Amino acid sequence: MTTIRLPGLVDVHVHMRQPGGEHKETWATGTAAALAGGIGTVLAMPNTSPAIVDEASLDVALRLAAGGARCDFGHYVGAGPDNAEAIATLAGRAVGLKMYLGQTFGDLRLDDISTWETHLEAWPEDGVIAVHAEGSTLKTIIELADSIGRSIHICHVAGADDIGHIAVAKERGVDITCEAAPHHLFLDRTTDLPPGRAEVRPRLGTPEDRRALWEHLDVIDCFATDHAPHTLEEKDGDDPPPGFPGVETMLPLLLTATHRGLLDLDDIVSRLHHRPVDMFGLPVDEDSWVEVDVDASYEIPTSGQSRSGWTPFAGMSVRGRVDRVAIRGEVAYEHGGVVAAAGTGRDVRREGSRRP
Ligand code: NCD
Ligand code: ZN
Repeated sequence: MTTIRLPGLVDVHVHMRQPGGEHKETWATGTAAALAGGIGTVLAMPNTSPAIVDEASLDVALRLAAGGARCDFGHYVGAGPDNAEAIATLAGRAVGLKMYLGQTFGDLRLDDISTWETHLEAWPEDGVIAVHAEGSTLKTIIELADSIGRSIHICHVAGADDIGHIAVAKERGVDITCEAAPHHLFLDRTTDLPPGRAEVRPRLGTPEDRRALWEHLDVIDCFATDHAPHTLEEKDGDDPPPGFPGVETMLPLLLTATHRGLLDLDDIVSRLHHRPVDMFGLPVDEDSWVEVDVDASYEIPTSGQSRSGWTPFAGMSVRGRVDRVAIRGEVAYEHGGVVAAAGTGRDVRREGSRRP
């Protein structure tokens, strides 16, 4: 047994399903899953039902989060076709603006380039704009943001071309950051998954895409799960929605990768703590931490705390187990049991917190 303590980890990209998708996940179940995965802060996306695109929907979302969360949290707001000015006034209460430029789950997709530009100009310069874009759309939005002179964050980079393009842009000094999701790092199209269960956006890549992500580790600012829970019934049904649960399995998978020499502990801590804290201006509490046994080996079970009830990583052998998590001095998870009550998590943008 080798127990190591890491600082509080942040997952900058999750989907809790409240309001509107409570049968898939709630704040109470999704943050229980996050704690079981060693995550102390989750930043939640706005493609709920209804989507979070104005003050009233943000009020509802933050109230639901505050009532249910067992770990600390923040919320993104969504860019819509005509809410650029109004949504920007909410920047202090949100962790970022999410722009969906590609095919996704929910109705927040923006097709019109002039709308992209309006949002890039309206959102405060020191705030985060997180973008879902791939291929030619990714190239266009990077160019546009660079010409306006503002930073953007690229969500879940999955392909060799995309990570290569980001690497070149960063080298040119373009102000962008990006994240990679565990399913794009540890799974690919050759992974044996039933077709509905394999649906995710961006899609799983080729083994070459996967290799390219690892080769460009230095370009990847954050690891983020894109925890997108849907039930097994939905995944195995006629019209399977895209998305994988992921918060419970990311850290064990990354710790396993350290044993294979793919990265080291500092690479994990920088991408799950230091960079997220810097990029989003998050409060840091020295009494928020996670203890892992880096030697414990086990097989990922078929389901865990997430209400979705499945994982694409089931059966994989991992080495590295989450033993204890503390949030601001209180033990929140211990040896397989979630201790923190629903409603004990704190909004990272609450009054008095550091803002971007
Ligand atoms: C996400 C979801 O289900 O909310 N699905 C996914 O495949 N990643 C939506 C998204 O992040 O685009
Ligand atoms: Zn997502």
